[in-house]
Amino acid sequence: MKKLIVANWKLYVNRSDQALKLLKSTVRASKMGSGVKIVICAPFLMVPTVNAIIKRSSISTGAQNLSEGTQGAFTGEVSAHLLKDYGVEYVIIGHSERRYIFDETDEVVVQKLIAASKEGLKPILCVGEQKRVGNWKKTLLNQVSASIKGLDKKYIAKLIIAYEPVWAIGTGNADTPQDAKEAIIEIRKVLARRIGSKAAANIRMLYGGSVTSKNIANFISSAEIGGALIGRASTNPKDFALIIKKTALLK
Ligand code: 13P
Repeated sequence: MKKLIVANWKLYVNRSDQALKLLKSTVRASKMGSGVKIVICAPFLMVPTVNAIIKRSSISTGAQNLSEGTQGAFTGEVSAHLLKDYGVEYVIIGHSERRYIFDETDEVVVQKLIAASKEGLKPILCVGEQKRVGNWKKTLLNQVSASIKGLDKKYIAKLIIAYEPVWAIGTGNADTPQDAKEAIIEIRKVLARRIGSKAAANIRMLYGGSVTSKNIANFISSAEIGGALIGRASTNPKDFALIIKKTALLK
């Protein structure tokens, strides 16, 4: 299976000229990295620009968030339908920055997963413990269960899950590949309890948290880890190009 590299630009990219430069270099890098699937999750307003520049490349467009509401009096929100209409294919849901800065609860995460799935978007569900202390695996697995509570099996089977330990995000302090792999194996068991082990085995699992061109290969060389969700390093043209190159070499 092709590895999936998802760029989460967050608000690190906040100028149109910066976005253009980064998009052009990513398209160039993608041509050398055939065999790697790349998704760019830019701020909403940049989606049409992303679509225009990635046209005829193997890159897909993603979003960093969406509304759980479909239509109505929700000032400032962007619906799944609108994303679909504007050519978005993937959407990040339940990122820790949404959960802990914007107080998104597990219940809201489930509603967002439903809204995205019904519209045929591909949700990238983020999970991860805040601290690696005490019984952190239990905390993590409880969050996984709560984030898919009541979600239809057919939708669970189509999720992409990103394991992002919160303490590893933006700190330069990535998890060890071994611990990340073990956590991912445990997460898959939770999924298997809902949809069966065969369907759960097919779910793509990503690692995220301080991934760079220096450590990418250590994470995604494992068959358990189907790719990476990358913040800061995805906004550095040179580093991101190198990440794509190293991923392509792995196949
Ligand atoms: P960093 O790669 O900047 O640590 O961010 C990870 C992340 O949150 C991706 O969604």
